[in-house]
Amino acid sequence: MQINKLKEEINNFSSDDKNPAEVFRIKFLGSHGSVKSLMGEMKNVAPENKREMGKVLNELKLFAENKWEELKKTTDDDKQQTTENGIDLTLPGDALQIGSRHPISIVRNKIVSIFQRLGFAVAEGPEIEDDWHNFTALNLPENHPARDMQDTFYVSQNPAWMLRTHTSSVQVREMEKGKLPIRIICPGRVYRNETISARAHCFFNQVEGLYIADNVSFADLKQTLYFFVQEMFGKEIKVRFRPSYFPFTEPSAEMDISCLICGGAGCNVCKHTGWVEILGCGMVHPNVLENCGIDSKKYTGFAFGMGIERITMLKYQIKDLRIFSENDLRFLKQFTSAV
Ligand code: DAH
Repeated sequence: MQINKLKEEINNFSSDDKNPAEVFRIKFLGSHGSVKSLMGEMKNVAPENKREMGKVLNELKLFAENKWEELKKTTDDDKQQTTENGIDLTLPGDALQIGSRHPISIVRNKIVSIFQRLGFAVAEGPEIEDDWHNFTALNLPENHPARDMQDTFYVSQNPAWMLRTHTSSVQVREMEKGKLPIRIICPGRVYRNETISARAHCFFNQVEGLYIADNVSFADLKQTLYFFVQEMFGKEIKVRFRPSYFPFTEPSAEMDISCLICGGAGCNVCKHTGWVEILGCGMVHPNVLENCGIDSKKYTGFAFGMGIERITMLKYQIKDLRIFSENDLRFLKQFTSAV
């Protein structure tokens, strides 16, 4: 019977064409295809056989359609799933993990932008320094006892080179350029030969500030730093300056802010004093100005230096400094939406 032959033909269909499904569709299911033309023959079928014939033709049509679907699937699969070299393009890709800014970078950017609004420009210097820029020019000559607090790492090929212990060395480099006035902010990484603990590390980050011009006074220093902490921590913050000692400033001070946790009432963070220390500062020592070729009779200036880790720990209430450099995603991910 014709129908059985057709079924066999459908079943065994194969094609050299690029798209066998389309060839199949035209041949069997198209408007001039075999199924349609058999359907057209229905009008010649005797009425008593029509029912039976209709059933058989419908079955044939379904059979052809199923085969067509199958063919489509294999051609589609061929097209989409593998390229010539067998790469499966339908596999989900490796998700690109979007990182977040490191908390130290967030805080450094914030510090820098606050000072930029006051007219400070960013200056940078090398992390490998020489004795002059890191110590001697800053009024810390060889054998000065204050060097003890800043032991560092020396370069074995040349012991005159060391990893800088503070960003104050950038002050010297900028002053030596001989262009005045100077109003700079210097963020950067520094190193010390310290035992690593929750409060100390062998590397950390500082921001140095330096302003040198005619008639710069301690009042300018205080107001600049007061503006800074208000922008950084909020308008309610209080500050106090305690006399201190740094070889490169005279007078020198340390600045405390009212404790962010207890608002000054006393808690563990401020060791029940209501205050936490955040930076060192002072008026640039005349010896430092002269060492860098600046006339100390004509110019005055102030300087300050702060640890970025310390500011970040206070701002985000982080208790252990080591976590900044441990690359622990559980910690870092918490800063995803911080800017
Ligand atoms: N360089 C100092 C340190 O690392 C911090 C410092 C104190 C910087 C007073 C200054 C300053 O510019 O005036 O401990």
